[in-house]
Amino acid sequence: LSAPEYPYSKKVIEHYRSPRNVGKIEQAEGFGEHISDICGDMMQIYLKVEGNIITDAKYETFGCAASVASGSAITELIKGKTVEEAERVTDKEIIDYLEGLPQPKIHCAVLAVTALHTAIEDYKSKP
Ligand code: FES
Repeated sequence: LSAPEYPYSKKVIEHYRSPRNVGKIEQAEGFGEHISDICGDMMQIYLKVEGNIITDAKYETFGCAASVASGSAITELIKGKTVEEAERVTDKEIIDYLEGLPQPKIHCAVLAVTALHTAIEDYKSKP
């Protein structure tokens, strides 16, 4: 076998093989879906919010290994944060959490952040 085209960190491979928080949340306070302009892959994020704290987060993606790992990372990163803190999570924080992403896969972390922002907008739009 030849070397993989994109060498992933051990952390990316581990989150790809055992992704955290995959699934849906019934009656989520926030739901967001985004399709990447770059690759056409999709991510959905569900938020459970109690007293402005994100108490649970789940995701589903129809995307690459880096999007699976990014969804896993972002849902882990935002649990326990306030909505405002979660809104400030950046693609760089996801990439750091995953101990790096190859340059051609940076947009997969951006997909996760954008799906999260859509879910937070949905939460904020509700009375
Ligand atoms: Fe589309 Fe990674 S290539 S999300």
